[in-house]
Amino acid sequence: MMDEYSLQFALARFNLPAVHYLETVGSTNDYAQHLAEAGAADGTLVVAEEQTRGRGRLDRRWLTPAGSALAFSLVLRPSAGEIERLGLFAPLCGVAVCSALRQDYGLEAEVKWPNDVLLGRRKACGVLVEAHWMGSELQNVIAGIGLNVSPASVPPPSEVLFPATCVEDGVGHSVEREHLLAAVLAAFGSWRARLGSPVFFETWENWLAFKGEMVNVESPAGLLSGRLSGVAPDGSLRLRIASGSEQTVSVVDVRLRPVTG
Ligand code: BTN
Repeated sequence: MMDEYSLQFALARFNLPAVHYLETVGSTNDYAQHLAEAGAADGTLVVAEEQTRGRGRLDRRWLTPAGSALAFSLVLRPSAGEIERLGLFAPLCGVAVCSALRQDYGLEAEVKWPNDVLLGRRKACGVLVEAHWMGSELQNVIAGIGLNVSPASVPPPSEVLFPATCVEDGVGHSVEREHLLAAVLAAFGSWRARLGSPVFFETWENWLAFKGEMVNVESPAGLLSGRLSGVAPDGSLRLRIASGSEQTVSVVDVRLRPVTG
């Protein structure tokens, strides 16, 4: 059972400026944003046992039933160099989760571009990164990660657009959530230090789900079909389309699906 004490203990080695453990909250991203507005430092962490208004990308809901998942947000204050690579923060979260699941749990986790994490082609983790600006000045970035840990966290098929799974179904035994969180934070720190480096792109691309396969990408501009070839240096997706040419799709408002049947 994760509680404030076990969490603080598992995270002690990170020297985080603050760890806020909440039994229940609307959304950890919103809570972290309030803390950021009040001056919270880079690395401030908000972890909730339960979210009642968890948010996903594109205004979707994200369910976090008590005791079964990891729902957390980090307050980030990007450096000048990182601001130039802001679009890579969401993939960074996906890569960090993937890295932790691979290294610490022996799972063949993959990143569904741009940042979801899949286990056996089912979604186990979603990422919601929100940048807050005041005019042209970046105030902070809130990086929110939701990881399905036990089967109770997996929404019923009728509630999801993409098939879902959880970490425990992947490993076949129960998982201590605070240890998983520690593994993700360690990976996040180590990949953040290499954000946008050749090894970052190489790794992201190596772990990219559906690479070489036909996929559909839905965007406000319409539906695009092509063979997924990799990622571009700005984080957009590279697709080889029917004409043989390569097209890039940027991260805003897109849904990626494998072509089935
Ligand atoms: C998605 O797949 O659409 C993204 C889901 C992101 C969920 C996490 S859970 C912690 C943080 N708080 C939120 O309200 N959302 C993110």
